[in-house]
Amino acid sequence: MDRIIINGGHRLAGRVSVEGAKNAVLPIIAASLLGGGLSMLKGIPPLQDVYTMSEVLSRLGLQVRLNGEGEVRVDASVVPAAEAPYDLVRKMRASVLVMGPLLARLGRAVVPLPGGCAIGTRPIDLHLKGFEALGATIDIGAGAISLTAPSRLKGARLYLDFPSVGATENLLMAATLAWGTSVIENAAEEPEVVDLAMYLQAMGARIHGAGTRVITVEGVDALTGAEHHVIPDRIEAGTYLVAVAAAGGEAVIAPVIPEHLKAVVAKLRETGTAVEEHGYEVWVSMRDRPAPIDVKTLPYPGFPTDMQAQMMALLSVASGTSVVAETVFENRFMHVDELNRMGARISIDGRTALIRGPARLAGAPVKATDLRAGAALIIAGLIAEGTTEVTGLNHIDRGYVDVVGKLAALGADVRRVPSQQAATESPVVTLPLCEPGRLS
Ligand code: UD1
Repeated sequence: MDRIIINGGHRLAGRVSVEGAKNAVLPIIAASLLGGGLSMLKGIPPLQDVYTMSEVLSRLGLQVRLNGEGEVRVDASVVPAAEAPYDLVRKMRASVLVMGPLLARLGRAVVPLPGGCAIGTRPIDLHLKGFEALGATIDIGAGAISLTAPSRLKGARLYLDFPSVGATENLLMAATLAWGTSVIENAAEEPEVVDLAMYLQAMGARIHGAGTRVITVEGVDALTGAEHHVIPDRIEAGTYLVAVAAAGGEAVIAPVIPEHLKAVVAKLRETGTAVEEHGYEVWVSMRDRPAPIDVKTLPYPGFPTDMQAQMMALLSVASGTSVVAETVFENRFMHVDELNRMGARISIDGRTALIRGPARLAGAPVKATDLRAGAALIIAGLIAEGTTEVTGLNHIDRGYVDVVGKLAALGADVRRVPSQQAATESPVVTLPLCEPGRLS
């Protein structure tokens, strides 16, 4: 069992480079199924989730090639299979994003019921309701969902009860090849939805309104492959902003699209953190104890649920009581027990957490239960007195490229220890990710 060892109490200083956005890359790789040819995707982070999604396509019979320069080449001239493999869908819930493209391209999709991060129930009813409205027939049985479209999908008005990111993406992809016009109402406005729409447009799709609550798609007969460079990861950037605010110090984080970080930056400024935006860079500096604040997670452009855990680690040492309300996911406070084991004073009442600062955090062995919980524990380790040992790194590897190397370059005392080595005799190592290029 690999672990990250952090000796807390070091200020951070320097520069962090931000990868391409994981949550944009996953639907974009899935969308490449729609193009009847070659797509070249650039700015792709070397992450486990990216390998998993590439492997899903590979197992559907497509040629997928990852090189070591952050590029994925997908040849979707033919799509031989419509059945997503159980082991991969179970491993990564975002695999359900192949449903829309498969249904649109082949008129058929079979996807096992998903697994993924353990943050609440995470149903996919909105995806399925939308597919049904587009003319698909749904059959759920034997642990899998089978979708069939008698002929071509038919454009329709689709209303989402909640602006779900995944449902918006799946339905947007399905609608690109439908007969006639589709309108997705109460659509998610997340930048990753916009990035997906830009790629689809480059493939020949006709989409208006991506990034607003109403997206209109005029179906076309066919799409081609296309080239696309993904946006920077706003959650990775936000995580380093919060890490600097928590540990103290000064850093430049780039590339970022400052617009995408507005809610996080606004909240950090409330804590007393200095943040300035310069083009595609953001400068952050913190010298004091953070002030307590109230945070409520919301769909974009609200404060992202994917930054809630990291923010909570910061607020645990604030000079007073903060309140964090989680409105997007049901069960996304699993990091709280671990933070409390490190000395934080956080209590939960339903979807609200009360964080009584300032706590004096002390290093402890802690376990990441999901991706962003892992990031929060690393941040807590940076501020804690003594040594923190974080396990459950499989979650962290899904979404952060070389977090240890990046923090060490900022001056943190952090290292990754492979399972067989004792903490005391370990050298600094970077994340042993799946090898790029192993898929073809
Ligand atoms: C995406 C992101 C994830 C982020 C989340 C919210 C990816 C790969 N993941 O996840 O990192 O935390 O957006 O910003 O992009 N819901 C339903 N029925 C559905 C679909 C969703 O009730 O059919 C609910 C969910 O249970 C959840 C809420 O809607 O409570 C938001 O989920 P959604 O926006 O769909 O998140 P994901 O697309 O899964």
